[in-house]
Amino acid sequence: MTDASDLRLEKLPLNHGTGQMPALGFGTLIPDPAVTISATRAALEAGFRHFDCAERYRNESEVGEALQAGLAAQNLARKDIFVTSKLWNTNHRPERVESAFNASLERLKLNFLDLYLIHTPFAFQPGDNQDPRDQNGNLIYDRGVTLLDTWRALESLVDHGRCGAIGLSDVSLNDVVPLYEAARIKPAVVQVESHPYLPETELLQFCNEHNIVLLAFAPLGHGIKPGPLEDRVVLAIAARVKKTPAQVLLAWAVQRGTALLTTPRSAERAKENFDISVLPQDAFDEINQIQTRQRFNAVVKTGSPGFIPQGS
Ligand SMILES: NC(=O)c1ccc[n+]([C@@H]2O[C@H](COP(=O)([O-])OP(=O)(O)OC[C@H]3O[C@@H](n4cnc5c(N)ncnc54)[C@H](OP(=O)(O)O)[C@@H]3O)[C@@H](O)[C@H]2O)c1
Repeated sequence: MTDASDLRLEKLPLNHGTGQMPALGFGTLIPDPAVTISATRAALEAGFRHFDCAERYRNESEVGEALQAGLAAQNLARKDIFVTSKLWNTNHRPERVESAFNASLERLKLNFLDLYLIHTPFAFQPGDNQDPRDQNGNLIYDRGVTLLDTWRALESLVDHGRCGAIGLSDVSLNDVVPLYEAARIKPAVVQVESHPYLPETELLQFCNEHNIVLLAFAPLGHGIKPGPLEDRVVLAIAARVKKTPAQVLLAWAVQRGTALLTTPRSAERAKENFDISVLPQDAFDEINQIQTRQRFNAVVKTGSPGFIPQGS
């Protein structure tokens, strides 16, 4: 954490590229196109400057439209925001990477991405069907490509100045270590589910030791209740410090040195989720001592997203 201690403005340096990642990120995994636009505009207005997108979310066009209109309305420039997208599982074959990247750029109406991630370490059968399944409904994986093959293609995007930094998502420490060792350009960011019920302490330690930013998704446990938003320790701290449970959870995530992605859909929640401030040390320590363990998203096990309706 920087000395400025304004968590809202916290930026994390990346181990390659020139960019710094704003710790507070807005996630665009929103199925409804109109809500995608209004929520993205509201996030920009509330102060979010980091936007997490993906071809799999099927709404990059709407995010691009909202960003373009929002930047103009607020007199902001492209360089004022940090934009990420992710390569989907059906595009892991190296020869498919550049066109998938270009298609994301085009939909987002951008000519550069600050960060490009491999969405999951699972390669699916290449093709236009993002959810390829056999007649029994089982996912069809592609055994003919390794994570390192795909990574090499992402390295080439950095070499050619197409994106600032590259990284991984939905990986375990067992995936990260060999990739890290073999990579010519080391992953700058690892995006995984993380909150007090899934602190990913070992992975965070590895990331800290190797200058990798851990980017936490589901910092509110995907909003699922019961979950961290209703945890009695979090509720008690929220009452004590006069913040909402969501603000406590988001502050904790930034204070422990991670970046995060949250997805408020209304303007009120965007303002609430941006308005975080430093927790007193005892509150921070109490959250670290929560013993409940729960994973809310199984994507890390299969590569199949838990929160996107099939066929959408
Ligand atoms: N790499 C991956 O595989 C992966 C997987 C999942 C997500 N992600 C990324 O992570 C982003 C974050 O998504 P998330 O679901 O993990 O976000 P989250 O912020 O942990 O959870 C969003 C849920 O929390 C609720 N919520 C938001 N602000 C709240 C507040 N102030 N008080 C109470 N409830 C609140 C929302 O409810 P309302 O909808 O009612 O506002 C929504 O149901 C996604 O958009 C995506 O970019 C990545």
